[in-house]
Amino acid sequence: MNVGFALVLLWSLPITNVLAELPVPQNLTLLTLNTEYLLTWDWDRDQTTTGNTVTFTAEYMGKYKMQRKKKNWSRVCERTIHTHCNFTGSDLHYLGMYVLRVRASADGLNSDWVLKDFCPDKDAALGPPSRVELAPVGNLLDVTISDPLTSTQGSMKEHVLSLYYHILYWNLSDDPRGLKPNVVNSNNNLVTLPELEAWTWYCVMVQSRYDYYNKTSGYTAPQCMQTEGDTQWRQIFLYFLVSLVVCFLLVLLPYTFFRFYRVLKHTFYPTIQLPAYIQEYLCDSSLGSEMPILLTPESELCCDNLSVYAEVVPLEIHIAPPFTAPPSGLQHDSSRHSRQGSEGSGGSGVYSTEGGSGQQGSSGGGEPIRRDKEVEKVKLGEMGEEPGDEGVPDEGVVDVCV
Ligand SMILES: *[C@@H]1O[C@H](CO)[C@@H](O)[C@H](O)[C@H]1NC(C)=O
Ligand SMILES: *[C@@H]1O[C@H](CO)[C@@H](O)[C@H](O)[C@H]1NC(C)=O
Ligand SMILES: *[C@@H]1O[C@H](CO)[C@@H](O)[C@H](O)[C@H]1NC(C)=O
Ligand SMILES: *[C@@H]1O[C@H](CO)[C@@H](O)[C@H](O)[C@H]1NC(C)=O
Ligand SMILES: *[C@@H]1O[C@H](CO)[C@@H](O)[C@H](O)[C@H]1NC(C)=O
Repeated sequence: MNVGFALVLLWSLPITNVLAELPVPQNLTLLTLNTEYLLTWDWDRDQTTTGNTVTFTAEYMGKYKMQRKKKNWSRVCERTIHTHCNFTGSDLHYLGMYVLRVRASADGLNSDWVLKDFCPDKDAALGPPSRVELAPVGNLLDVTISDPLTSTQGSMKEHVLSLYYHILYWNLSDDPRGLKPNVVNSNNNLVTLPELEAWTWYCVMVQSRYDYYNKTSGYTAPQCMQTEGDTQWRQIFLYFLVSLVVCFLLVLLPYTFFRFYRVLKHTFYPTIQLPAYIQEYLCDSSLGSEMPILLTPESELCCDNLSVYAEVVPLEIHIAPPFTAPPSGLQHDSSRHSRQGSEGSGGSGVYSTEGGSGQQGSSGGGEPIRRDKEVEKVKLGEMGEEPGDEGVPDEGVVDVCV
């Protein structure tokens, strides 16, 4: 029975081929970039004899389901008049393996399906970096590379883990076309180009690469940038200092502000009230009379009071006369004679003491004291003469000198 059925099938196959007059789409091609997948095919319009519009249907299915009896194709494009179908939004997994198929339809007839295997990881083209920026850092160049983007604006590094960048750079003045570029490979997004010269224009192009499937993207457009001067240690140290100062300020400012606030508070709202007369003084000085306050008559009166100690001295003077009275005739002492002569009194010691007490009230207090001393000296000198003691006259001489 089975053999007979198979024979019937074999016999009928040519018939079905004849019935399917519509030719199949040709040259199925996938135009891909990152995770954008566009299936295109060729269709010769002359093949349709009737001239009616030809439509196409495109479907896909996971390759592992091909072995199943009941196949579940997912339809992406149905009866489209275009010769391409956009599989981008079909959510094909990047590492999955799929089978795509297309057939043409016209005049109620369907062509056979044309199959094409598709594995995005293996077949989809890799795009160049979405953005490249150059920034001079001293005599070096920083290249900031943005990853190629998926159709949902994600990074292609999510799908291609071993993606890296092939960077070409060259001296613009030496090699304007970039025929002998230097090469740096890196999977970092920030690359500092090594061994550049200061104040020189360099051009940079970047390519994405994925070695497992030998994928390389196109290059980004050349971008040129001039390097700056050498980054000297002094400059680095300066940057360090500046950042340190900034850090200090950030920490100190709130503290200083707090202290300043406290000082202000204590100055204008003191916890201890000043005495009333100081406050009065402060008020006066605020009116503009600053120095004159120190020279008021009251303060001079205080100075008069200081001379009070001189009034105590006459007490001694009163004691002195009993001693001085007997030697009143002693005017021959040479040293004393000259001094009293200068005073103009010319009289005895008694006269001088009287004059001294009389002068006290009128003039300064220094003079009377000296006279009292003189009185005492007179006494000493007399004592030295009368007892004939030799030690005492020496003292008297010393005192006279003073
Ligand atoms: C398919 O591609 C080949 C080679 O590129 C070309 O010669 C042929 O004309 C294409 N088929 C159609 C239907 O365009
Ligand atoms: C067929 O696949 C679609 C998604 O592609 C799914 O939603 C549907 O449930 C599947 N049907 C069967 C019978 O497997
Ligand atoms: C394919 O569809 C995606 C969105 O799903 C769109 O961004 C992309 O431009 C489309 N490609 C073409 C060639 O129409
Ligand atoms: C690069 O160009 C500068 C002129 O801008 C030149 O002086 C220098 O020698 C060149 N460097 C190299 C490595 O060729
Ligand atoms: C990758 O391409 C190079 C030439 O560009 C070739 O020599 C090498 O065999 C290729 N490798 C694979 C795995 O296709």
